[in-house]
Amino acid sequence: MVQKSQGKPVKDSHVEVTHIVQPPDINSLGTIFGGRVMEWIDLAAAACAARHARRTCVTASMDAVHFISPIQLGEIVIVRAQINYTHKTSMEIGVRVDAENPLTGEHRHAVSAYLTFVAIDEQRRSISVPPILPKSREEKRRFEEGEERRAARLAWKQRRGKQSAS
Ligand SMILES: CC(C)(COP(=O)(O)OP(=O)(O)OC[C@H]1O[C@@H](n2cnc3c(N)ncnc32)[C@H](O)[C@@H]1OP(=O)(O)O)[C@@H](O)C(=O)NCCC(=O)NCCS
Repeated sequence: MVQKSQGKPVKDSHVEVTHIVQPPDINSLGTIFGGRVMEWIDLAAAACAARHARRTCVTASMDAVHFISPIQLGEIVIVRAQINYTHKTSMEIGVRVDAENPLTGEHRHAVSAYLTFVAIDEQRRSISVPPILPKSREEKRRFEEGEERRAARLAWKQRRGKQSAS
């Protein structure tokens, strides 16, 4: 269910960061390290969460990281982060990474991921965030899917808690 109270538009916290893949970013196969892309994803998503919440935010989880296509040395990498879903103190940020061949201009989808950030106060306690106001059909679809993923994450967390206790 999309929240009915007034919220902040999705576009207000949109983040786009561009990188060029350098020699320290690549592995022995000449393609980018997965960890480097995950760092870029985390940073773009953190900026998106902070823009939305205007609070200090921490990464609570990173899931559904899919490496779809390898990224080569010298390619242009575009990292786009957008807020999909908000609950009381948490936000789901979706990140899509595209690779661009600098010589031909060809673009391809390389990586995608979902991250959950939680806003915290000075005592590091979780604190409420403004709701988002999904407007377009696409934004509403992402919101509803984000709600389903939140339920799945919390079910996983609960199962893990029970296993650690036994
Ligand atoms: C993230 C963190 C603040 C959550 O703390 P917590 O005591 O579990 O918090 P609560 O149970 O009060 O839940 C707070 C929110 O976090 C969400 N949350 C907690 N664990 C989560 C997880 N693993 N995945 C997704 N969301 C999670 C809850 O759903 C809740 O959201 P809501 O208020 O919107 O419903 C805490 O686990 C933490 O500080 N983790 C370390 C963060 C960190 O070091 N990140 C890396 C560097 S930034």
